[in-house]
Amino acid sequence: MTAQILDGKGLAEIIRAEIKEDVARFVAETQVQPGLAVVLVGENPASQVYVRNKEAACVKAGMKSVMRRLPTETTTEELLALVAEMNADPTIHGILIQLPLPKGIDEQRVLDAIDPEKDVDAFHPENVGLISQGRPRFLPCTPYGVQQILVRSNIETKGKRVAILGRSDIVGKPMALLLLQKGIGADATVTVCHSRTENLAEILREADIVVAAIGKPEFVTGDMLKPGAVVIDVGINRVEKDGVDENGAPIKVSKLVGDVDFESAKEVASAITPVPGGVGPLTVTMLLLNALNAARRQTAAAQASK
Ligand code: GUN
Repeated sequence: MTAQILDGKGLAEIIRAEIKEDVARFVAETQVQPGLAVVLVGENPASQVYVRNKEAACVKAGMKSVMRRLPTETTTEELLALVAEMNADPTIHGILIQLPLPKGIDEQRVLDAIDPEKDVDAFHPENVGLISQGRPRFLPCTPYGVQQILVRSNIETKGKRVAILGRSDIVGKPMALLLLQKGIGADATVTVCHSRTENLAEILREADIVVAAIGKPEFVTGDMLKPGAVVIDVGINRVEKDGVDENGAPIKVSKLVGDVDFESAKEVASAITPVPGGVGPLTVTMLLLNALNAARRQTAAAQASK
């Protein structure tokens, strides 16, 4: 069996076109342009690529993008001052602080300082609490994107066993919460696995859906999967691989790989996301949707208080 490839890039284009139309309609109705601020502190090369993608996607969808780049030496107090300024700015509806922040900055304090109504990452404790109670204000972008891939690919989650690899606050934990909820793209039986999990192989072998988000290149191999499993690969790892140059001489080439060994997994799975072109494009897409919804909520609240 060779798995169906779940085309995240194509799906992201479809959803972004829907968002673009919704933005245009919202602007026409309210004369308010949704605004998303992205803050990058330091020089992390991967983060630089991600924020550039976010900025470009935002502009393409018809939203205002405010990009702030700060030096590595930025202090927690300086970043808090910027957050306060953005919280008070009515033209900014969403604030995203790109993670990881440089060592020395109190990440928790900074994330907690973002106005929960502008917290398009859904990292604020108030928003995490609302998600866990099943009444979300915003959904965290990567798990939301994974759920969209499943729903729009007609992959049933109801009653299915899902194994999530990784317990991060950005992916693993909120992914579990989303899949646990009642409703479409949810109602699953969820197991969250991590570095201390015993009998990982047993859990994986029982899983109808595997979501890999552990940051270990090609960790999940085909022999670990239940035949017919659906595999969602959230990993983005840059590795050196053996290749050949134009003369056939061996060289090292830099390559992006996921947390799943795609070649062996696709022979066992029924459906699988590639890396790149799988989950990544959906993450940015759901960020755009959160920013539009933030603008909708803030504009309605401003109207109501007039
Ligand atoms: N770094 C890696 N993923 C994310 C994300 O979803 N949001 C933010 N703010 N930073 C990240």
